[in-house]
Amino acid sequence: MKTILVTGGAGYIGSHTVVELLFAGYNLVIIDNLCNSSCVALERVEKISGRALTFVKADIRDAEALDQIFSEHAVDAVIHFAGLKAVGESTQVPLNYYDNNVNGTLVLLQAMQRAGVFKLVFSSSATVYGDPAEVPIRESFPTSATNPYGRSKLMIEEMLKDLSVSDSRWGIVLLRYFNPVGAHSSGLIGEDPQGIPNNLVPYVSQVAVGKLQELSVFGDDYPTKDGTGVRDYIHVVDLAKGHLKSLDRIKEDSGVLIYNLGTGTGYSVLEIITAFEKVSGQSIGYKIAPRRSGDIAECWADSDLAKKELKWQAELGLDAMMRDSWNWQNKNPQGYQSDH
Ligand code: NAD
Ligand code: UD1
Repeated sequence: MKTILVTGGAGYIGSHTVVELLFAGYNLVIIDNLCNSSCVALERVEKISGRALTFVKADIRDAEALDQIFSEHAVDAVIHFAGLKAVGESTQVPLNYYDNNVNGTLVLLQAMQRAGVFKLVFSSSATVYGDPAEVPIRESFPTSATNPYGRSKLMIEEMLKDLSVSDSRWGIVLLRYFNPVGAHSSGLIGEDPQGIPNNLVPYVSQVAVGKLQELSVFGDDYPTKDGTGVRDYIHVVDLAKGHLKSLDRIKEDSGVLIYNLGTGTGYSVLEIITAFEKVSGQSIGYKIAPRRSGDIAECWADSDLAKKELKWQAELGLDAMMRDSWNWQNKNPQGYQSDH
């Protein structure tokens, strides 16, 4: 497989994956409507890789735009990142989430079918495990959703399973990401949330750089090691590499393959603060606040299946995750807007 269509390639995980794909010698076409990203990210990717990108600014719900891409490029496989991802927002505007994520994926799959492209890697999420009965979480655990975002991911997973049953030419990998953090070691690309960040590490980074005053730690009375929430944070570059391993896996294989991408280690909110302070030399002001509704106590992956079948495992530890998050934030205090 040589030519890959990357949807959502200007986004956080997409841009890091594009860098790894370029270094591995793939030809890429990127489609993104830039609703949650900036073309500066792609310019930076070109700088890191020394290669020019083929970028189409379009929506994945635009069937004509997709048909044109497939007719102009001999696409072998698709890596599908494009989608909306804010849990809170999804409860306010659920139809936007079903339209963008579920309908968007449907339009993409129909275009792939018309073009005879049957290999897909899809960005799913650990959110599909709901509140797990135990940790570490294995792929065989029951799935459930507590919000429209999570439900959109589950619906897409179901749709993909039905599709592969209907036609054995489909080879599909569902990657259930745990908590992606960190940035490229160059500090040129990273996570650039709009407005006030919802997620922990971007929030901590913005406190460190002086953009936000203090962190609210959502709950210190969970049944965890220190009472704060525990998650499986994974470096975005490790995550990106998991997509290349997935492409290798579906080259010959068909059916739907499901893998957790996590490190297998859980860290608490307080451990994250301490690790960030250590690598950045900044002190992170925080206060204990009530639990955030919808949060679970702890969540980490059993990633043995990915190790065995994808020959993939996370290599970067907590220090690298925090160091690279800080490096990105420190060099780009206003994110990609620093370039305008
Ligand atoms: P992101 O918002 O940075 O990237 C998504 C990209 O898709 C953006 O560039 C956006 O402009 C684009 N996009 C959205 N809707 C589109 C549409 N209709 N047409 C074309 N482009 C569109 O998010 P991310 O963190 O890089 O996440 C990538 C994928 O991984 C998403 O599907 C997300 O749900 C999933 N995921 C993310 C996390 C996380 O914590 N970041 C965790 C689990 C799963
Ligand atoms: C969030 C999403 C989840 C998504 C995941 C990965 C919610 C409710 N869930 O989960 O669907 O799959 O990101 O992107 O948004 N925390 C604080 N203070 C903060 C922010 C977070 O204490 O300001 C705590 C949280 O309570 C949690 C931990 O930090 O214990 C991690 O939070 P976050 O980064 O938002 O990720 P998740 O809650 O795992």
